[in-house]
Amino acid sequence: MTRDRSDNRRRFTSYSNPRIIIRDGKLYTVSESRESIYGEDVEKRNGQYERHWEAKRNKLSGALISGLPDIQIRPGMNILYLGASFGTGTSHLSDLSLPGKVYAVELAYEPFLKLLELARSRTNVYPILDDANNPERYRPFVDRADLIYQDISQRNQVQIFLRNSELFPEARFAILVLKLRSITSSQSESKILEDSIKSISSYKIDNVVNLGKFHKGHYLVTMHR
Ligand SMILES: C[S@@+](CC[C@H](N)C(=O)[O-])C[C@H]1O[C@@H](n2cnc3c(N)ncnc32)[C@H](O)[C@@H]1O
Repeated sequence: MTRDRSDNRRRFTSYSNPRIIIRDGKLYTVSESRESIYGEDVEKRNGQYERHWEAKRNKLSGALISGLPDIQIRPGMNILYLGASFGTGTSHLSDLSLPGKVYAVELAYEPFLKLLELARSRTNVYPILDDANNPERYRPFVDRADLIYQDISQRNQVQIFLRNSELFPEARFAILVLKLRSITSSQSESKILEDSIKSISSYKIDNVVNLGKFHKGHYLVTMHR
């Protein structure tokens, strides 16, 4: 059963993770540090640092602003982040999960160098330079994954997710970003979305959010098992 809540805006309320702040329609994550990671605004309010989590810069903040009612990420959870890129999203998930760890898997060398930099200032970020097609290679370095977050725009993105969900059976929650046109250009977006979701039998689907307003052609799927 899937629900697209993308029109169901939720702008003036709160989330179950107290480190997500929504104010005047903008999202922030509460950070231990005043450091700006990628040029985002950092404000000190009520004795804590709040980092602007821009909907255009990250799929998960885009999903929350587009109507995703809540996320399962809580302080203390370990996250396996597949396709961590330059660490923009990783840095916010690091805020939300501390003291849990974020294992940030990235294939390309240049963004990986940025992840290494991020890991110098964040005690809970663990960069892994590897291909998410081969989770058996990094499984030994991940002591526990409570949630899999994947944002990889490859043709076989769903297969990559299924393989990781097999290798990390303890991951009760998952958040999958789908870039539909990377899967095929020869079918309608609704057919690609339907087939992708159908092939995920290891999780129950909670929400499917159309990210089109901020990230054209992308959907974000939240799940549990
Ligand atoms: C769309 S970007 C992710 C952006 C990131 N989620 C953020 O918000 O900061 C996708 C990333 O996945 C990486 N990637 C692509 N294929 C991969 C693979 N097989 N294994 C690991 N990373 C991969 C790319 O190098 C790229 O950095």
